[in-house]
Amino acid sequence: MSKQASNARQVLVTGIQTTGTPHLGNLAGAIQPAIEASRAPEVRAFFFLADYHALIGVWDAAALRRSTLEIAAAWLAFGLDPERVVFYRQSDIPEIFELTWMLSCLTAKGLMNRAHAYKAAVADNEAAGPQDDPDRGITMGLYNYPILMAADILMFKAGRVPVGRDQVQHLEMTRDIAARFNHHFGEKLVIPQASIREEAAVIAGLDGRKMSKSYGNTIPLFVSRKQLHKLVMKIKTDSTPPDEPKDPDGSSLFQLYRAFATPDQTRQLAADYRDGIGWGEVKKRLFELLDAQLAEPRERYVELTARPAEIETILRAGATKARAEAAPFLAELREAAGFTSLGNS
Ligand code: TRP
Repeated sequence: MSKQASNARQVLVTGIQTTGTPHLGNLAGAIQPAIEASRAPEVRAFFFLADYHALIGVWDAAALRRSTLEIAAAWLAFGLDPERVVFYRQSDIPEIFELTWMLSCLTAKGLMNRAHAYKAAVADNEAAGPQDDPDRGITMGLYNYPILMAADILMFKAGRVPVGRDQVQHLEMTRDIAARFNHHFGEKLVIPQASIREEAAVIAGLDGRKMSKSYGNTIPLFVSRKQLHKLVMKIKTDSTPPDEPKDPDGSSLFQLYRAFATPDQTRQLAADYRDGIGWGEVKKRLFELLDAQLAEPRERYVELTARPAEIETILRAGATKARAEAAPFLAELREAAGFTSLGNS
């Protein structure tokens, strides 16, 4: 029987890439649902900063460091409890990288050829015109991304990995890789399940496309009240005039509002859309809703980022806890693969 997640306590692992500045999309799609899930008594949560994943795209030491600080502070500001959650930096856990190599040696290259991110990069090259090298500009880091992610997950025996839809393929690959390891070396690795955050909102950015740092259309979480107001006013709307009924479902303002409002507030706004509320009024309501929820975390965030040494202490304590589990498990995996002492067999 393969090791499904049968542990009495559910292990939940999720990583957050340290690229850029945290924004509303991260809050609705990842931070809030993950923190909520971590509060369930039967859950053991491992949340980490995927900083070696970030290195794939960030080749600027100061930017990487800044983003690591900001993203760690964001999670803490929204209530991640480092006593409850094992909260660490990926790069502090050398066992993960050792496992990455072991897994790499078992992973079919063809499997990586099929990864969406890699295929998209090749497609971009091909779209740019006739290419002598469709892999131009693509690093081994990008190519191997899913294997590092598999190691993140398998190292801590995750049963459940809460991810967005875009990560489902990575989870499938993790399962494949783990099964291959188990086939050769015994049932050591827990085969994880993706738990897709259906309820977690994908929200639209300033231009109506999905809010994402790759589109540069984000609303950062920790701007001032004034700046937040300015950004909300910039969200694109269509030209339906005030007083004309509007369709809430096609509206990115509505989506954004819904992601942060109570069901009652959402129902009220939907009714007001049909009654022909003006866009200016919608924006005003959205702004007040957001500002009310962001004001306190904003203060905590400012305090936290002013004292980076405290964050460092929290992350190191998290790394100690994580390594206390990773090191003995890696030893077991090494032994299973034949890396044992020659002296006492
Ligand atoms: N690839 C994930 C993302 O972009 C981040 C990540 C890295 C991750 N390692 C992970 C998520 C392990 C879950 C589990 O969102």
